[in-house]
Amino acid sequence: MTVKTQSNSPADLEFGPRRPSFDIDAALAADWHGGSAFKTAWFNAMSMLFPLGEKFFIDSVVHYLDDIDDPRLAAEVSAFRAQEASHRMQHQRYNETLCELRGYDLDRIEKNERERIKWAYRELSARRRLAGTVASEHLTAIMANDMLSRKGALDGANPDIASLWRWHGVEETEHKAVAFDVFLAVGGTVSERRQALVLNTFFFMKDTLRNVCIMLQQEGKLWSPREWASGFKYLWIYPGTLRRCIPAWLRFLKKDFHPWQDDNRAVVADWESEQP
Ligand SMILES: [Fe+2]
Ligand SMILES: [Fe+2]
Repeated sequence: MTVKTQSNSPADLEFGPRRPSFDIDAALAADWHGGSAFKTAWFNAMSMLFPLGEKFFIDSVVHYLDDIDDPRLAAEVSAFRAQEASHRMQHQRYNETLCELRGYDLDRIEKNERERIKWAYRELSARRRLAGTVASEHLTAIMANDMLSRKGALDGANPDIASLWRWHGVEETEHKAVAFDVFLAVGGTVSERRQALVLNTFFFMKDTLRNVCIMLQQEGKLWSPREWASGFKYLWIYPGTLRRCIPAWLRFLKKDFHPWQDDNRAVVADWESEQP
């Protein structure tokens, strides 16, 4: 019997979970990213989306385990699952500690995402849910690439919290094509993934900004023009963390797009060379 090739990753790509530990509890009490309330809230707001989001990603990929014939893709799914499970665990701890230290209401913050996931199970087919995961994995991979490749991206951040974000970014880079290759293997279409990218980008922005607002409100800075001006500049002008992702975001819309067309494993190698 010939086995179909379903993995489109570089031939020598190998990855798995690392299970590090981070001493971040005390630092989360303050504006850990360069003393900036907005930048701190932006990262904290994204962290809030990971535990529920990454469970959804794992479940939508694992749903198709029986359709994976290629042992290499099956092994990549196991590694993806283990990496995302470890991210969930670290961010759950991060989020609980953050809420305890800063008085945020975790249930309120997670409410919209929880309801959207319920909606996705009620209204969308398994393949549409997988398309959503493929789109979200693209968003995390391109933001991770910006964070890891841009010199000084985490300058001024607490070093332990910055380490957690870099580790997460590295693993998102390593497994960036796993959901994509499963989606291709089960006949996912270009239009399904294009629609999913537009929809998921909208909801990612909406949820993250909502969380930022809840956090800034708690700090008494929701109506601070200074915070919002510095936040707008950070996201869209200089360094423009979101603006810089636009070309890579657009590349996903190409008919023949594959995440490894951008072989950015140098960011993983650089990170690894810096590890003790
Ligand atoms: Fe992750
Ligand atoms: Fe991921």
